[in-house]
Amino acid sequence: MGFSTDTQGREEALIELFRATFTASEGAEEGTLIGDLVRNLLASTAQPDRFVFIAEENGALIGGILFSRLTYEQDQRTVFVLGPVAVATEQQGQGIGQRLLNHGLAALRSAGVDIAMTYGDPGYYAKVGFRPIREADAPAPFKLKQPEGWLAQSLTDRAMTSLQGPSRCVEALNDPVFW
Ligand SMILES: CC(C)(COP(=O)(O)OP(=O)(O)OC[C@H]1O[C@@H](n2cnc3c(N)ncnc32)[C@H](O)[C@@H]1OP(=O)(O)O)[C@@H](O)C(=O)NCCC(=O)NCCS
Repeated sequence: MGFSTDTQGREEALIELFRATFTASEGAEEGTLIGDLVRNLLASTAQPDRFVFIAEENGALIGGILFSRLTYEQDQRTVFVLGPVAVATEQQGQGIGQRLLNHGLAALRSAGVDIAMTYGDPGYYAKVGFRPIREADAPAPFKLKQPEGWLAQSLTDRAMTSLQGPSRCVEALNDPVFW
């Protein structure tokens, strides 16, 4: 298995990976929603505002993760939010997700990103260093429907401390349905 950031010409395959994976785990409606989200993130997010990492094996795409910029106008630190994340259904449970996440987080650290956030299953994301954070300590772009899923980690030697809101996400995520 190898990791890459080169998605040029493979956008449709990546969108399909997300659509099919989320359809299998959460149903067709969610599959369409997340497939469309990935399409929008790729199409409408400027390069400096996103990172995309893929896992491939024998030329086939088997995993993908996206990060996009979260702007805290009152805070100097660089913050990116992780999501969505998918590992092809038949390849799940073999550690690919965890390896891909660690690879992506290390790349963000090298790029000088200070803080990674995500919104998901605390049990799963704890395995790659995310810890719960209160909305009061890191305001989300929208009121969260599941505040227990709001997670953060420092990518520097400095401890995670409160982020001064309000915050603003990229256009593709700027819809309460995702929060
Ligand atoms: C979530 C997902 C990306 C995980 O990828 P994966 O390659 O199957 O995960 P891994 O094999 O790396 O799992 C690593 C560990 O997390 C555990 N794990 C997996 N899902 C978990 C969950 N929901 N809660 C707690 N632990 C979980 C695994 O048992 C494994 O534990 P271990 O290291 O102690 O054996 C993948 O299952 C997926 O694409 N699911 C459907 C889409 C989705 O829900 N995406 C996340 C929301 S954006």
